[in-house]
Amino acid sequence: MARKRKGEGQTALITGASMGIGVDLAECFAKDGYDVILTARSEPQLKDVATRLAAAHKIKATPIAIDLGTPGAGEKLAADIATRGLNVDVLVNNAGYGIAGKFDGSDRTSQLGMIDLNDRALAELTHIYWPRMLANRRGGVLNVASTASFQPGPLMAIYYASKAFVLSFSEALWKEAEGTGVHVTCLCPGPTVSNFRERAGTGRTNLAKNLGNAMASAPVARLGYRGWQKNRRVVITGGRNRMLATLVPFLPRKTLLGIVHGMQSPA
Ligand SMILES: NC(=O)c1ccc[n+]([C@@H]2O[C@H](COP(=O)([O-])OP(=O)(O)OC[C@H]3O[C@@H](n4cnc5c(N)ncnc54)[C@H](OP(=O)(O)O)[C@@H]3O)[C@@H](O)[C@H]2O)c1
Repeated sequence: MARKRKGEGQTALITGASMGIGVDLAECFAKDGYDVILTARSEPQLKDVATRLAAAHKIKATPIAIDLGTPGAGEKLAADIATRGLNVDVLVNNAGYGIAGKFDGSDRTSQLGMIDLNDRALAELTHIYWPRMLANRRGGVLNVASTASFQPGPLMAIYYASKAFVLSFSEALWKEAEGTGVHVTCLCPGPTVSNFRERAGTGRTNLAKNLGNAMASAPVARLGYRGWQKNRRVVITGGRNRMLATLVPFLPRKTLLGIVHGMQSPA
């Protein structure tokens, strides 16, 4: 008789699952037998990922296309999920984007859109599914932040601040969930190969120029998934990224701001 996989009978909702890290996170859950609900804006890509994961891992994969950056999108998504008779045991808040450049002269809609997607939708979905997780004493939340969470980011100010929110919020919930059986992990990737840089326009910065060593998205996702299984509060991917994040609190803030400004400056 085949051994029961650890996710069988549970469902993981993964946001930003049409490409990049989100696809690999969905794969981690599917491989362990979780049914998955995949969401993002690009319907054809979502359907492709769902078809592939369902066939490869013998699970149910449901694609739902929605723009999570619009107000109330979290509630709308949850209503759609409930109408389909599905439950959410694990929430993976991965959808997000960044915009590089000076705050002055930036496009207000794109700047505020980062807060709507990276923070507001993440908090809204967590607020919706959190009570059920606590009542069931299982499941939990895996939030995708960034190494940007650990310091302010001149020339990418809103993005860094939005990811600092994700780290702070996740750590607080980790503490609130202690002893309940509900796991909370904040995954903090450093530069990772995906569509992120193209959308963010970070490809022209000193940081990007000096980073031939961006990690592939699959190992980043695996580290996050394994960390979540073990209820690790924070997972920073890559030894170099872990070392830099550890050093940050010891640097004078003014020095740190100068370093990040230099890294985010055009090459
Ligand atoms: N790549 C890196 O270097 C890096 C480093 C640190 C942290 N991160 C974080 O990792 C997460 C995943 O990013 P990634 O690197 O995989 O980038 P990506 O390849 O650009 O993927 C982003 C995902 O978010 C979805 N998304 C974007 N806007 C959306 C919206 N308005 N509504 C719903 N879904 C939306 C995208 O799908 P659609 O376009 O189809 O909507 C896509 O599935 C993000 O939170 C990012 O901040 C990335």
